[in-house]
Amino acid sequence: MTTDILSARGNYYLELEEKFGAHNYHPLPVVLSEGKGVYLTDIDGKKYYDFLSGYSAVNQGHCHPVIIEALINQSKKLTLTSRAFHNNVLGEYEELITSYFGYDKVLPMNTGVEGGETAIKLARRWAYTHKGVPENKAKVIFADGNFWGRTLAAISSSTDPSSYKDFGPFMPGFSTIPYNDTVALEAALQDPNVAAFMVEPIQGEAGVVIPDEGYLQKVRALCTEYNVLFIADEIQTGLCRTGKMLACDHENVRPDILILGKALSGGTMPVAAILADDEIMLTIKPGEHGSTYGGNPLACAVAIASLKVLRDEKMAENAEAMGIILREELAKLNSPLIITIRGKGLLNAVVIGHENPEASWDICLKLRDNGLLAKPTHGDKIRFAPPLVITKEQMIECVGIIGKSLGSF
Ligand SMILES: Cc1ncc(COP(=O)(O)O)c(C=O)c1O
Repeated sequence: MTTDILSARGNYYLELEEKFGAHNYHPLPVVLSEGKGVYLTDIDGKKYYDFLSGYSAVNQGHCHPVIIEALINQSKKLTLTSRAFHNNVLGEYEELITSYFGYDKVLPMNTGVEGGETAIKLARRWAYTHKGVPENKAKVIFADGNFWGRTLAAISSSTDPSSYKDFGPFMPGFSTIPYNDTVALEAALQDPNVAAFMVEPIQGEAGVVIPDEGYLQKVRALCTEYNVLFIADEIQTGLCRTGKMLACDHENVRPDILILGKALSGGTMPVAAILADDEIMLTIKPGEHGSTYGGNPLACAVAIASLKVLRDEKMAENAEAMGIILREELAKLNSPLIITIRGKGLLNAVVIGHENPEASWDICLKLRDNGLLAKPTHGDKIRFAPPLVITKEQMIECVGIIGKSLGSF
């Protein structure tokens, strides 16, 4: 699978991946070798604006010096003990992250999907020990269009055939209701065996779907009324991406279980965290859950630095301000190809209207040629989510690139 839009060296790397790697991704043809702040550079030295940020894992910008310093320093001292022993970084990280987000306890894991799995295990356990749900009857409700990863549990709650088809049988005890529909939620909560409702405050992979104002408050109120845990999956929306530290902060709601991942390491390594109060967290006892790498000292040192950088450099405020500029400037383009512009902070998407179903892909290729990397999601949507360190001048230049690219269609 060579392509004439890449150099011979570029095609060399594409062919290696094609020949020796599983074909579970369809990347844009560009081969990157360096990243710094909002920029990525390919193997031929061409520089691009990154408008994906590793699916919101690189909120702090590529290779943020403070995070990289923490990574290097800790990697020279101690990287993994497993949880069979204590280490001198985990406790201080746990103290920092729990006070940062206002929960009694944290359970450290690695990837985001493990965070989701852990949250659901906690909710099921809590339902048996505290709510009185009969053994093996606990239910968890999700929203249509949810995305929380690719494990068997995660795809068992998926409503996207490309996630679940031909991977069954699926996890029992899961059901879905329409997103942004609190009437459906209240109806589902009539079942006394419901342990939790797990939801993204904004659905990222579904194409940046933003619920009505007041949705999260109503979810919070209903979960409290029916004694059901509200699990917020803030793996993509959290850590300043939407213009607040958490997307739930836009409505001043506090979930019972908060799941974080992605930017918790500033894009350097998989780090996830599940936060909850004692009543929930202490239902899991020693030996009942864990992971070899979860809470390793390297991850903890990196997460401490990543959290500090978000606050010290006021990344929520910048995301909020730059998001407004991005959406205003995109609207001014008046492009007939853009049907919708939506987003909060720097989690944005445009919906492309064109009779050619490949139009979004072709637009992303053109953006790439003009120096900006973005990726289509669900066919007709393109996500615009640059690192949160982007400046106003850079944003204006980026919208110029987008305008020029759209103009060539
Ligand atoms: C909202 C949400 N939850 C969970 C995940 C899964 O995270 P990971 O890919 O680190 O397992 C993702 C990944 O895109 C996500 O967007």
